[in-house]
Amino acid sequence: MQSLNDIRSAYLDYFQANGHLVVPSAPLVPQNDPTLLFVNAGMVPFKNNFTGAEQPPAPRATSSQKSVRAGGKHNDLDNVGYTARHHTFFEMLGNFSFGDYFKERAIELAWNLVTKEFGLPADKLLVTVYAEDDEAHGLWKKIAGLDDSRIIRIATSDNFWSMGDSGPCGPCSEIFYDHGEGIPGGPPGSPDEDGDRFIEIWNLVFMQYEQFADGRPRQPLPKPSIDTGMGLERMAAVLQGVHNNYDIDLFQALIAASVELTGVKAEGEALPSHRVIADHLRSTSFLVADGVSPSNEGRGYVLRRIMRRAMRHAHILGAQDPLMHRLVPALVEQMGQAYPELVRAQALITETLRQEEVRFRTTLGRGMGLLEDATRGLEAGGVLSGETAFKLYDTYGFPLDLTQDAVRGMGLTVDLTGFDAAMAQQKASSRENWAGSGDRAQTAEWFKLRDRLGPTDFVGYEQSEVIGEVIALVREAAEIDVADSAQIAGAADALTVEVLFDRTPFYAESGGQASDVGEIEWPGGAGKLDAVAKQAGDLYVHTLTIQRGKLAVGDRVRLAIDADARTRTRANHSAAHLAHAALKNVLGGHVAQKGQMVDAERMRFDFSHGQALSPEELDRVEAEVNAVIRQNLPAKTESMAPQQAIEAGAVALFGEKYGEEVRVLTLGRALAGEGAYSVELCGGTHVARTGDIALFKIVSETGVAAGVRRVEALTGEAARRFLLDRAGVAEGLAYQFKVPPAEVPARIEALTAERKRLERELADAKRKLALGGGSGGETSAVEDIGGIKFIGRVLDGVDGKGLRPVIEDFRKQVGSGVVVVVGVSEGKAAIAIAVTADLIGRVSASDLIKLAVPAMGGQGGGGKPDFAQGGAPDGAQAQAGVDAVRAALAG
Ligand code: ALA
Repeated sequence: MQSLNDIRSAYLDYFQANGHLVVPSAPLVPQNDPTLLFVNAGMVPFKNNFTGAEQPPAPRATSSQKSVRAGGKHNDLDNVGYTARHHTFFEMLGNFSFGDYFKERAIELAWNLVTKEFGLPADKLLVTVYAEDDEAHGLWKKIAGLDDSRIIRIATSDNFWSMGDSGPCGPCSEIFYDHGEGIPGGPPGSPDEDGDRFIEIWNLVFMQYEQFADGRPRQPLPKPSIDTGMGLERMAAVLQGVHNNYDIDLFQALIAASVELTGVKAEGEALPSHRVIADHLRSTSFLVADGVSPSNEGRGYVLRRIMRRAMRHAHILGAQDPLMHRLVPALVEQMGQAYPELVRAQALITETLRQEEVRFRTTLGRGMGLLEDATRGLEAGGVLSGETAFKLYDTYGFPLDLTQDAVRGMGLTVDLTGFDAAMAQQKASSRENWAGSGDRAQTAEWFKLRDRLGPTDFVGYEQSEVIGEVIALVREAAEIDVADSAQIAGAADALTVEVLFDRTPFYAESGGQASDVGEIEWPGGAGKLDAVAKQAGDLYVHTLTIQRGKLAVGDRVRLAIDADARTRTRANHSAAHLAHAALKNVLGGHVAQKGQMVDAERMRFDFSHGQALSPEELDRVEAEVNAVIRQNLPAKTESMAPQQAIEAGAVALFGEKYGEEVRVLTLGRALAGEGAYSVELCGGTHVARTGDIALFKIVSETGVAAGVRRVEALTGEAARRFLLDRAGVAEGLAYQFKVPPAEVPARIEALTAERKRLERELADAKRKLALGGGSGGETSAVEDIGGIKFIGRVLDGVDGKGLRPVIEDFRKQVGSGVVVVVGVSEGKAAIAIAVTADLIGRVSASDLIKLAVPAMGGQGGGGKPDFAQGGAPDGAQAQAGVDAVRAALAG
């Protein structure tokens, strides 16, 4: 039997042997495309190559691309587990021609692979073509020798493929496999085509157009191209002789792990649950490895929905403890070799799944509470509002069917229309969140400039000042030749333009490092640099405010960075690398960078970790970083291929796409064992030696999202200042207390203890005074009201807190009876009523308080039969409270 891993290799080897470059899968989070939630087809990473905006890596390429369909145009989530072929995650095998070969060669390559390499009998295959595509029809006839009945013309959009509302598209031709007469279903185009007998195994798209979201007519692509997509799991099912994708080797291994851990066999009602778990394990693990964390919006929200859907199925299978994270080793064993990012992120995936499952189990309880509240007033036959069901779904992670199950037992149903309405509204707002993320609309324009002018030569690793030539000026998205501050009406004397130079020392914001700032001067003019951003990969776009004179294309300009700010930025950036390594050492391998911001002032580093750091952990991180600083070893920067870097142990960011060459930065020597202290892929600017950082001080540690913590730290002079300020506070205190600084804590402790003692004494004295002064000699007057002993007193200067000990004293004194004490403090009244145990049943403190509080002009009040409390805004009414109780007892 050919394993899934064998089939993947056979496909890539075949196309490599036919002149295609094997391109590794891109991360699931689209890198260059604001219109997509996740990469959902093999061609997505090549979108700009098809449209001609970007040069392709080679004229022909092949890949096995990780894909997720769980949101947006191609969304399979709800079907997964219940059908033979739906997945949230799958691998798409593809071959691509960027203006190289077209239909004929594509059909030839495909037919040879399926019939010769994979050995599928021709009589089990049939194909479809787009209705008007006579050319494709003729080619299938010629190359495959298929007769007309096996080349089916499809007139619908089924045979016109597009990646979304915009992007490359074209007519397509699909190859189907006939699973045999035993399975119901008809050929494509027939009324029962949705049956399972004829299954599409490969889609060949003849890319010819680009379409636009704004309704502009389709444009032809610069050159006709080829994009194909073969679902690896489907192909494996065919080649392994099984009908259901979940029966292939990979899924069988994952399901076996889930069966072992739950002790529930994969049969009957449990079967879909195991399938859901196996499928969702793949999508969630790969998404986490590509940098997505569960959250309540956007991609993180889709991830959370998938996770929880799996976790509910674990719950249905009766798993008592979190399950998903324990299945990660089985996945890594199956797929870790083909996708090493899974191995690198294994600790992170495990921890993220574990935390989410623990968290979901707590909302499960709270959601049930909400459900109980919402259904309390409802009678059998009633309807739970769609809004409540949606709130349970949205806030508490309750899938709709879980809610339906729970209310069914009470004879209730859920208002599905209301639920759908709430869902539709939520979906609309989630789509809005997506619009506008990612690149600016002008991407294509920058790519054009990049093609015409070539990349900017960044010299800022070595130089801080150079003469650069202006090679393009852009204002309001249009190229101009001259930017003249004097000609801009109403712009006073400042004019902002985007400038491209042939070379630059200015670092462009990336990898969380802020862009350099600085001055720009030329004969007859000057300007201030606001920001530098990278466009089209390696074009440095300088946003410049011209303060004086005019700037024209061809001018030679002095570009000087603020060297001092750059030095501090370097120290902060290198310190962030050291902190990353230290956090991993101190907290564990699950620590992964989730974000970073370094500039001249400080460093901010976000990372995955479940709880706040203890003072001791923070201290260890700081101590490690400072120890490496003191090693004062030279920082080493090397360029190498990404694969080589990762093999050398470099920490790469999850979900980041790297170019052909990456910079690898090595800092310090390991504090224990062999090797370097920190090795990371990084394009930023760094210190020459670790000693240049001088000093590292963490100034805050906070949480930014579930499972993500943030540390902020200072280096060098800023860290020294911070420590000096802190020391200044200690010295100020020492001066005030007139003790050496080291004795300040003991002094404050002594003062606090003394204050506590004085407060106690004061309360004691007040109470004694209330009981009639003296040293416990005199007692309060005890009245007899209808056979019940009663003490009622108003005490000045006693607040609510002070009443309790007084009333306890009176209760003891009276033995059996009712006590009312009203304290008056700061103009307000606080009342307490006590009833001794023997009288409970005859008299209730909580009833009496409801009479006493209103009598004093207050509201509320409550407690238990033996003790109740309340208050009123006007202390002058205190006596009325006592009188009200007396009157009530007198009946
Ligand atoms: N891009 C095509 C698909 O996803 C091959 O079906």
